[in-house]
Amino acid sequence: MYVSIDPTNYRVLHPRPVYLIVSMDKEGKLNVMAASWVSPVSDEPPLIAVSIWRESKTYENIVETGEFTVNIVSDKHIDLVWEAGTTSGKKVDKWSKLGLEPYSSSEIRVPGIKGVLGFVECRVRESIGVGESELFIAEALKVHVNREMYEKYGWNLRKTGILLHAGGRVFTTTKWPIFPRRGRS
Ligand SMILES: Cc1cc2nc3c(=O)[nH]c(=O)nc-3n(C[C@H](O)[C@H](O)[C@H](O)COP(=O)(O)O)c2cc1C
Repeated sequence: MYVSIDPTNYRVLHPRPVYLIVSMDKEGKLNVMAASWVSPVSDEPPLIAVSIWRESKTYENIVETGEFTVNIVSDKHIDLVWEAGTTSGKKVDKWSKLGLEPYSSSEIRVPGIKGVLGFVECRVRESIGVGESELFIAEALKVHVNREMYEKYGWNLRKTGILLHAGGRVFTTTKWPIFPRRGRS
């Protein structure tokens, strides 16, 4: 037996990973925000789609520079994610307030964040207005991963938990890997 719920209730498609998006304005000032509406959308070329609210500082920065990094975080980063996702760079210098340190990118000016599990250097290829947000489709130019946590088949889920957002203040992690009965990958 099902009941109908409001189609605006995004939580039905969560939990999903939450990432930290780093962007830069044209003066070189860095900003960070949380985003969980992020997805790979093509292998060749490697493209990533991110849905960014048009009222955010991150939106302004990405329009100005066409670049951003997607930073992959673990359950250890939950407070950082919450702060980055509940205050705006239009009001607070989050980069300094959160004591973040840059890790240089090789293809773009926008850095990753030191201490995260890994990050992807992205350059926008196209963008589409979607309701109140902008869907930026960006090429993944370079990917950096913590070599202790990332192995041949992906993140070592026994060593680290990727942070997932369930909705509101509720998060969870991937710390409990499970496998289908048959097949290999
Ligand atoms: C867990 C979590 C996930 C979020 N996901 C998104 C998202 O996918 N897209 C978006 O535009 N905002 C998302 N937000 C909200 C932004 O992070 C928030 O509006 C932030 O204050 C924007 O910061 P800025 O103005 O400095 O860019 C999320 C917030 C949280 C806490």
